[in-house]
Amino acid sequence: MRTTPALRRLVAETTVAPRQLVLPMFVADGIEQPRPIASMPGVYQHTMDSLRKAAVDAVAAGVGGLMLFGVPDPRDKDADGSGATDPEGILNRGLRALRDEVGDATVLMADTCLDEFTDHGHCGVLRPDGSVDNDATLARYVEMAIAQADAGAHVLGPSGMMDGQVGAIRQGLDAAGHIDTAILAYAAKYASAFYGPFRDAVASSLEGDRRTYQQDCANRRESMREVDLDIAEGADLVMVKPAMSYLDVLRETADRSPIPVAAYQVSGEYSMIEAAAANGWIDRRAAVLESLTSIRRAGADVVLTYWAAEAADWLG
Ligand code: PBG
Repeated sequence: MRTTPALRRLVAETTVAPRQLVLPMFVADGIEQPRPIASMPGVYQHTMDSLRKAAVDAVAAGVGGLMLFGVPDPRDKDADGSGATDPEGILNRGLRALRDEVGDATVLMADTCLDEFTDHGHCGVLRPDGSVDNDATLARYVEMAIAQADAGAHVLGPSGMMDGQVGAIRQGLDAAGHIDTAILAYAAKYASAFYGPFRDAVASSLEGDRRTYQQDCANRRESMREVDLDIAEGADLVMVKPAMSYLDVLRETADRSPIPVAAYQVSGEYSMIEAAAANGWIDRRAAVLESLTSIRRAGADVVLTYWAAEAADWLG
């Protein structure tokens, strides 16, 4: 059954379609030209203009959605991350520009997290002792979620791993009349070394780590509890992140979840393959497609990947 490409195609159990891929994008304040991200070859911090163009290209390639991150001017960062809730903050402006540009032709998603906007770089607001204040952060997430829904996001992705974030955001959105805005819950999000290049991508101010609120890579059961809680709180999709080192968690999530499951192939996964390919050590296209197929095989309905537009082109 493996002797010809046609036979293999006939019996392939898993496919990857462009519509299942979501492209994470970065829009930066105060830059004149798109700025290449050194640790992520081929990925850029966009200007408002180049963001619109790249989005149009990705939608034309057939991607299922776009996930937008904002990179504020460092001078605009503060302890509360006020740029996250300001309608004129970079992320909210970017969302309005994208919704204006592509309308409902794709699914517009927003990162609902304070880390890009806080001067300390944590995902929430801090207590005087420097620890993250879970419940005070929830109130900020609700304000941020409403601002993002007002700006035109179809789906919000709370990525800070605060307890109760999905329930708080759902209630806040409903009370503000945003009853159709969906929530993509970063349900099982690990404290991972594979986010390294992303810190570059968003010019993160973080010193230290997020191990007090993101999960320990040693644990599996904990993820199932996180997934169950997020579903009970009203999540519309649940996500596992990173993807490749957590395919077991992804499989278990897919087996138990009554709602669609996403996986985030993160910056470090991207950069490792790009770096090896640049050295001629692996076949870039084959490695990218193998990684995406494996993430789908492990149970992801939706894959967030920095190769979304290019892979969509290949898969046509
Ligand atoms: C937090 C956030 C992070 C990523 C997505 N959302 C960084 C973190 O949790 O430290 C990482 C994505 C990637 O590495 O590609 N807003």
